[in-house]
Amino acid sequence: RIPKPAELSAPAWKRAEGIDWGDGEEVQRLRREIEAAAGPGRAFALVAGSAAGGKEEPVLSPADPARRVGNVSWTQAKQIEEALRIGSEQAPRWERVPAQERVKALEVLADRLWRERARFLYLLREEAGKTLPDALAELQEAIDFCRFYAAEARRLFGAPRTLGGPCGERNAISWRGRGLFACISPWNFPLSIFLGQVVAALAAGNAVVAKPAEQTPLVAAEAVRLALASGVPPEILHLLPGDGQVGEALVRDPRVSGVAFTGSGAAASRIARTLASREGALAPLIAETGGLNVMLVDATAAPEQVVDDIVVSAFRSAGQRCSSLRLLLVQDEAAPRLLDLLAGAVEELVVGDPRDPATDIGPVIERSALLELENQAWRLERQGKLLAKAPLQSTAVPGGHYFSPRLIEIPSLSLVDREIFGPLLPVVRFRVEEWELVLDQVARMRFGLTMGLESRLSGRLRLVRERARVGNLYINRPMIGAAVAFQPFGGEGLSGTGPKSGGPRYLEAFGVERVSSENL
Ligand code: SER
Repeated sequence: RIPKPAELSAPAWKRAEGIDWGDGEEVQRLRREIEAAAGPGRAFALVAGSAAGGKEEPVLSPADPARRVGNVSWTQAKQIEEALRIGSEQAPRWERVPAQERVKALEVLADRLWRERARFLYLLREEAGKTLPDALAELQEAIDFCRFYAAEARRLFGAPRTLGGPCGERNAISWRGRGLFACISPWNFPLSIFLGQVVAALAAGNAVVAKPAEQTPLVAAEAVRLALASGVPPEILHLLPGDGQVGEALVRDPRVSGVAFTGSGAAASRIARTLASREGALAPLIAETGGLNVMLVDATAAPEQVVDDIVVSAFRSAGQRCSSLRLLLVQDEAAPRLLDLLAGAVEELVVGDPRDPATDIGPVIERSALLELENQAWRLERQGKLLAKAPLQSTAVPGGHYFSPRLIEIPSLSLVDREIFGPLLPVVRFRVEEWELVLDQVARMRFGLTMGLESRLSGRLRLVRERARVGNLYINRPMIGAAVAFQPFGGEGLSGTGPKSGGPRYLEAFGVERVSSENL
């Protein structure tokens, strides 16, 4: 039976557990467990389960470069070749393992991620600068990806489905792995996006060569070690820490039969060009890139609620989510009170070391990101007016990559022409008769990831729903934190190719469809 759209979601699966933030004892206990899990991380190329690498380099914390989080040794050319050779040779074997069997290791991995949470929460904090709530949300998302994609693989990649056909003929369709997938992931979700790609590719019956972001190899190495310990065969999953050149070498190689990439739009375009120009079989690209995500606010929305939604959307995770709010558009009538409340809220943000439980906003990932933000803030301030700036706390040590969150009013939305990846929020006022104009201007930017709307008018909701060309539209709520399976996530236009991670079509993109027609 061919599934109808309403049936296109996985059967029940168990969501990740959580902790009760209201229970001080429990939170304290978790913080103690995290301290007990401290210790240097190590990352190196893991090819067919054996570790190798060249000279070691330190990995330093973005919160304080005096803190060494661990060491990484970067992948050498011969390890890339080994991984490509073994991965492509072994892929058909993994593909023949029934999906029901294949995904068991992924479910074990989900359980073990939760059991070993303290170590992952420690590394997410130290290597990526995440606060505990952010690190925990990421760990939960990683667990959800493992279980959801396992359930999806059972549904889709299990037994062939019989199709109708003329009498005397039996037609059936099945989904199978493509071969060897290259998974190239970003630093802003070094666990959940890294594992999300890898687990989807594995569940669909592919072998994987995984290249994590060069800023965050330690979290990825810990995740791969756990995946192998959970039963993923070592010949099927290879870890290759390195810079863009490692990614380039993987993408260029015709033994790679598909690429999953999350990162910058420029890098996604380069990958697409490389794939188009190489010899051999055609390979698909699943790309998720950035967004110039706007939120629109009218005068019917409750300002206190809107302020909360804006602060979460723009500043949570130090604004380093691809979904984060990048440009706030406020109707004139709502602006005075809203911007006044918002400025107060921004000044209250606690910016400091993520080890401090009081910290709302930790560091940005690296020095070049900090300099870019300072530069963009300077440019916008010159053309507009600084409305609020959060102070740095004493825990924000010099040398750490701390950026003071800022709210800057600017006269025109055309002054923001590229993604601002951090806690810097420009705001533009517009007149009530300009709603359609503003929506057209936003659509012309051609980014299409997230959009927020704060309004109680059904006509306005309808207008925005019709005009928004974004993958994820959030109405009267924060515009980050898509929940696996409930809010499939991903953009269109300059923001990505689709399909959406955590959605009912994601796994299909990692596979091929095969039809057999049999004359009885
Ligand atoms: N999936 C994340 C979110 O929804 C962004 O990368 O916030």
